[in-house]
Amino acid sequence: MHPITIKEVLKGKLLLQDITINGWVRTFRSNRFIALNDGSTINTIQCVVDFEKFDEEVLKQISTGAALKISGTLVESQGRGQSVEIQVNDIHVHGTADPETYPIQPKKHSLEFLREKAHLRIRTNTFSAVMRVKSSLAFAIHKYFTENGFYYFHAPIITGSDAEGAGEMFRVTTLDDKNPPLTEEGTVDYKQDFFGKETNLTVSGQLEAEAYAMALGKVYTFGPTFRAENSNTARHLAEFWMIEPEMAFYDLNDNMDLAEDFIKNVIRYVLEHCKEDLEFLEKRLLDEEKSKPQAERSEMPLLEKLKFVTENNFKRVSYTEAIDILKNSKPNKKKKFQYPIEEWGTDLQSEHERYLVEKHFKCPVILFDYPAKIKAFYMRLNEDGKTVRAMDILFPGIGEIVGGSQREERLDILKQKMAALDIDEKELWWYLDLRKFGTAEHSGFGLGFERLVLFTTGMGNIRDVIPFPRTPQNAEF
Ligand code: 4AD
Ligand code: MG
Repeated sequence: MHPITIKEVLKGKLLLQDITINGWVRTFRSNRFIALNDGSTINTIQCVVDFEKFDEEVLKQISTGAALKISGTLVESQGRGQSVEIQVNDIHVHGTADPETYPIQPKKHSLEFLREKAHLRIRTNTFSAVMRVKSSLAFAIHKYFTENGFYYFHAPIITGSDAEGAGEMFRVTTLDDKNPPLTEEGTVDYKQDFFGKETNLTVSGQLEAEAYAMALGKVYTFGPTFRAENSNTARHLAEFWMIEPEMAFYDLNDNMDLAEDFIKNVIRYVLEHCKEDLEFLEKRLLDEEKSKPQAERSEMPLLEKLKFVTENNFKRVSYTEAIDILKNSKPNKKKKFQYPIEEWGTDLQSEHERYLVEKHFKCPVILFDYPAKIKAFYMRLNEDGKTVRAMDILFPGIGEIVGGSQREERLDILKQKMAALDIDEKELWWYLDLRKFGTAEHSGFGLGFERLVLFTTGMGNIRDVIPFPRTPQNAEF
């Protein structure tokens, strides 16, 4: 008989039929009740074993973590908490899991403990729920763009350009480290890194996306990006996935409209399609928060918070207005930010961003028109000559979730900006070509996928929403 998923079984449509399922044991109680899960759903199915019918040797092999194939009849359940169960006729043990050494026991493990077991933590309810929601979000993202006339394109991962101009790149090299080519000064000649060219892992697919938008109209990338910044926070990874739409003939307002509509749409999708997992995660969060002081607890349960975001407008505020608000605010009892805002032009710290979102506006905020000095070279200069058409979207509990801008499409001004930042025109000759041949207004943004997953699942640490996190201390797996 062909095995079916537990998700299918739990729908209860196959009542009184003989079925076969595969899965892993969550618990085995009283030598009689096996709770089996196969990953298709957060729920387990109860499999009732008449132990007199089975060889003791087989029953001995059943413990938490063991992989089984079970055949039996689906019947209405007598017990509480489930509507159907399986009366077991046959058990095949695919593989045992020694209870003495199997680390994932049926009890509450801390997220820190589970981080050390990244290859097994996906077998817990929390991680499987997070990863199913993540998978669904990825689908919703592709669906949204496809239905809105965007083309999906793959930006290169090995690249010669530093899209953000921030120098936080991982070098890609084919150099023989025992016998590297040397410069005239005798130092290693990194210009010859990749078969004769200096290259790195991409920090953003944006520049290439611009090239494609200037022919296909609306495009997006969705791929891995890398940052060699030494940030040990709950919001930063060295390897994360980014979604980067880029649109020809869009100005900054069009860009903000799209970003807001897009985020609301994908959250709405998972609210509809991942209800059980989100309900589980909401309950997990409520339990976790019981141990926190009142002030640190979130004001809304997870599902309500997600619904709130989809139903309310994001607040749009210019950097200059935000600075005025921050200068005049009293963030806490000490009435001071750790980094008080002294003057216009300083970059916002995460404490400022979170204050604006969580205390002042109490909703997602889009900050726009930042000072040119604190933003990347490619952003379009405003008429005031000192701000650029940048936008960042800030989310409660997360901080920055999106960074984007209208791009500088004027060749002369782009060249001036590059010169001021000491960016060699020769390195970006092809990018300048886009301004020489059929240039036009265009815009785009980057959404950090794991930060979106953090928000949607209510998890607190970005290391817990990516399978095998790469951070400065962790690349073991
Ligand atoms: O603000 P960023 O650096 O913007 C860019 O890379 C633009 N080129 C995007 C574009 O316009 N196409 O990064 C965009 C987003 C951030 O808002 C954040 O959500 C996420 O990427 N991000 C990170 N996520 C996890 N770990 C990190 N180290 C991240 N750095 C950025
Ligand atoms: Mg940014």
